[in-house]
Amino acid sequence: MSDIFDAMCAQRACRAFTDEPVADADLARMLDAAVHAPSAENKQPWEFVVVRDTDARAAIGALIARAWNTVGREFSKDRLSAGLLADVERGATGGIADAPVHIVVGADTERGLPMTAAESIFPAVQNLMLAAAALGLGSALTTIAVGYAYELSEIVEFPAHVRPMAVIPVGHPARPLGPPRREPFATRTSRDRYGARWD
Ligand SMILES: Cc1cc2nc3c(=O)[nH]c(=O)nc-3n(C[C@H](O)[C@H](O)[C@H](O)COP(=O)(O)O)c2cc1C
Repeated sequence: MSDIFDAMCAQRACRAFTDEPVADADLARMLDAAVHAPSAENKQPWEFVVVRDTDARAAIGALIARAWNTVGREFSKDRLSAGLLADVERGATGGIADAPVHIVVGADTERGLPMTAAESIFPAVQNLMLAAAALGLGSALTTIAVGYAYELSEIVEFPAHVRPMAVIPVGHPARPLGPPRREPFATRTSRDRYGARWD
């Protein structure tokens, strides 16, 4: 997949991975795409920790499972479609842990404004995931482990001024993801004033 529009329209959450390793060269291309994202005041507050270590990935996986088992499942059970709930369940209870790489993304709150940490980090995360899709890799934006910020920071040794923002599992998809389900843009787009729909 080389065209940027193809990548944008195909990219979606992958929560089941094969154990095929991911090359450093591919990760470098993804990270290079990530750091070309915009950020408030161009402070580029992102910090990435690429986790391959088996014990560290297991610890991150355990944190995700804990967050899902204690709070996430109960919160989500009446909010998500049955299919999505089942996929998130599989991901949180092992699928994400099994990814050969976890990228833990942090926001350096000394380098960037704490107030715009999310706005400055997530464009980079999106670039990273689009690059993964373009390379034929699966990834997913997950934030559930951020609920255990202290424990997550301990695993990757983030100092206190680096706030964990997301965990991105990366690997080769265990099965085809199929097309993402999205409402057509025209149903969410107005001309000149809200409600004067595109079509
Ligand atoms: C802010 C944010 C947080 C998310 N956190 C999680 C998460 O903790 N666990 C998870 O499995 N998916 C998470 N997702 C992925 C969404 O569930 C996914 O993007 C959405 O269901 C669309 O699915 P698709 O990309 O497969 O079409 C998150 C997405 C966003 C944007």
